Parts: sequence; structure tokens; C-alpha cells
Amino acid sequence: MNISIVTLFPELYTPFFKTSLIGRAHEKNLINSDIVNLLNFTLPKQRIDSPTFGPGAGMLLRPDVVEQAIESQEIKYGKAFKVFFSPQGEKLTQKMLKSFEQKIKDNNHLLLVASRYEGMDARVEEYYADAVVSVGDFVLMGGDLPALCFIESYLRLVPGVIGKQESVERESFSGPFVDFPEYTAPIEWKGMQVPEVIRSGNHGLIKKWRERQAALKTVKKHFQWLRSFILNKEQINLAKEFIPPHYAVLMHSDVMLKDNQVGNTSITSLDIHDIARSAATFGLKNYFIVTPLKDQQAIAQVLLDFWQRGFGVEYNVHRHKAVNLVKMCANVDEVIEQITKAEGKTPLLIATSAKEHTHKNFITYFDQSKVWESGRPVLFVFGTGHGLAQHILDRCDFILGPIYGFSDFNHLSVRAASSIIFDRWLGIKIKE
Ligand SMILES: C[S@@+](CC[C@H](N)C(=O)[O-])C[C@H]1O[C@@H](n2cnc3c(N)ncnc32)[C@H](O)[C@@H]1O
Repeated sequence: MNISIVTLFPELYTPFFKTSLIGRAHEKNLINSDIVNLLNFTLPKQRIDSPTFGPGAGMLLRPDVVEQAIESQEIKYGKAFKVFFSPQGEKLTQKMLKSFEQKIKDNNHLLLVASRYEGMDARVEEYYADAVVSVGDFVLMGGDLPALCFIESYLRLVPGVIGKQESVERESFSGPFVDFPEYTAPIEWKGMQVPEVIRSGNHGLIKKWRERQAALKTVKKHFQWLRSFILNKEQINLAKEFIPPHYAVLMHSDVMLKDNQVGNTSITSLDIHDIARSAATFGLKNYFIVTPLKDQQAIAQVLLDFWQRGFGVEYNVHRHKAVNLVKMCANVDEVIEQITKAEGKTPLLIATSAKEHTHKNFITYFDQSKVWESGRPVLFVFGTGHGLAQHILDRCDFILGPIYGFSDFNHLSVRAASSIIFDRWLGIKIKE
């Protein structure tokens, strides 16, 4: 395979293509690299860059110079799969590399364009690029390091470049789980032991241990990655072992009323049904309803009896399954007590609020690892009426901010808000 690199700094690539496995791939003729200096395509005394049109101090690579470099390489090696680099490009991932594999193979020519200065004239990318790749949300001085990253990660997929192809297949970011931890001699180092199980020689146990370790690491550190996959039942169960149990409570007491007083609200059958169905969808263990009012409890109990024990069980088994998660309590302390008894640990309380908060423990929907690191169960606390009373908010360990979109309307029903929150926090969100 031919790899053309168009750059202002060819010297950066010479040692790279001579070193280690890439050096060996070169020697074995698996790859042929051709590093082209953009300066070779300027006329004597002609500049390679020119100032941007419009206000701004930047200099850009001239499109006609880049054009000549690209076209001369395509004359030499045939049409190329052309990759440009920009912080605004698509993030370089293992999935992306896999999706390029066939196209690069078909062309047998990969051409990378490493820009410098403020970048290059926007028309060049538009005209030539098959892909514009970013190596992360930060700005480098040029595209050479991204080009080197691209080559090294791509060449790992080319058969023959690295020794064991099977190690590529099970590596981090090739599937839903990242790689498991590995150890070598000595058995004890700085007071830390290599886990006994992987020295046991029992292959079955080692495989199981590795799978669990990979799942643990992924849930803890790469949950957003894990949930970007369509997971099978086995993978879901494996991941679930490391996601702490989640619960929800809907407060019909200790909430703000219209007159700015703290009081009680009425239960509604819609909230019982719909939040129970959402709780079941996202794997919550129970959904509690809090009301201290005896008459309200009696009304809710009729509904619960029907779906948990009565005719509802055979009438609609799915609804039964969802409503079976519902428990009624007189106050939030009873809820905490029940969870503590079931889990052996007190839950962390996450309040959700429709109002802006300057709470010291304000978290976002990407902060699962922050909440999960203690291994304690999690209780989502939802308010009714005009929101949770301050003394309940003060008891919460974390506050999730309001849900909003590109509008100034901020009045979701609690059943809609809870669904969105469960999905943002625990939902599987397929990417691609
Ligand atoms: C100083 S940067 C230009 C940044 C550009 N003005 C912007 O803000 O998007 C110069 C060149 O470095 C390369 N580059 C910088 N950061 C990069 C990143 N995170 N990923 C890929 N390429 C990058 C690109 O080729 C870019 O054109």
C-alpha cells in the first residue's frame, strides 16, 4: 500500500517510518511511504501561504500549491483515499478506522495532507477530502502529529504489520468493553500483588476474571462509550454487575405550592403508570411514591392492588411488571430506610430541579462515574407541584440541572422529565 504525506515538515516522518513495526512493514514491502514537501511545489520566490481574506491576522496555505502536491501524487500512485486534518473534523476512532479499511484497500493509496499556520483555504478540503479527521478537541500547530496518529492506528489494522492480529480484535474501542488489565513479573511490586486468579493457570477462571475487569473499567471510566453499542443480553448483564442499583421517588409531600408554601400534592394515576414504565425500561429497582395523606394512600393502593395482585396481572403482564416496582411510603426517610435495608448501603440522593441551581454538587448528565465511584445505590428524587422544598434539596448529594432545549419554555411534566432523565443517565444511545 502506498502512503503519500503532503507536509511542510518531511523530516518529522523519516524516523517514524524507520522505527519498530512500521519500519519492519516497510522492509517487508507491506507499505511504501512517499513524503512530499509542499515547498517543492512553489515557484522560486513564491510564497506557500498568503493572508486570509477579511479581517484577521492568519496565514493560510495556498490552494494551488496543495493542488499540485496532491495531483502529482495521484499521477504517481493512482487515485488516493485522501485524509485532511482539522480540529473541526470528525473525531478519530477505532470505528472510523474500520470504516475506512476497505476504501483504502481498494485504492491502494492513502494520501494524508498535514496543514500548518491557520490551516488551508477552505475550498481545498471541500474539493479533495474523503475525510476530515480531528484527533481531539484541542488545537495543535499543524496536522503532522494527527497524520502520524492516523498512520500508526490505521496500520495496526493492516494484516502483517503487527504480529498477533487477534490482539487487535479484542483491544480497547474495538467492541463495547475496553481491554482488561494485564500484569507481568515480578509478582510483587511496590507492595502490590499480581492478582492470584491470573496466576492460577485455570483458563476458565482467568477468562471470567478478565471479562469482569474489562466490564468494570468500562462502566467506571467509559460509560458513554459502552452505551453507544447495541448490547446483547449477556453484555447488558455483565455491565449491570457494575452499575449501582438505581431507584426513584416521586414526592407528593415536601414540595412547593402555588402560594410559595411547602405542602402536599395529589397523586395521579398517570404519574404512577408512566414513571413505573420508564423505571422498568431503564432497569430501576423500585419507584417510590411518597404521600403522608391517608386518603391519598388509599386511592393509590386501589390502583396498586389491581396491577400488582388483582385482575391487572393477567390483563396486561407488562403493565403488571412495571407497576410491581411501585412502593408507597409516608416520607422520604422511609424510602431511604427501605433502600438501605435492601442494599446494605444508604443511597446517594440526586435531585432534579427545573430551576437553575448553584448547588456545590451540581452534576451533568455525563457525570455518572462521579456518582458511581462510591458504589452506593442511587435515588433520583422528583418533585411535584412547584418543585422540591429547599430542605429536601439540601439533603441531596447531587443536583441535576434543568432539562432544556433551544427554546425558553421550561415546564415539562414530571413523567416526561423523569423519562428524559433516566434515558440521559442510563439509556443506551447507539452511535451510527
Ligand atoms: C492552528 S491549526 C488551525 C485551527 C483552526 N483555525 C481552527 O480553529 O479550527 C493548524 C492546523 O493544525 C491541524 N490541527 C490542529 N489541531 C488539530 C486537531 N485537534 N486535530 C487534527 N488536526 C489538527 C490542522 O491541520 C489545522 O489546519
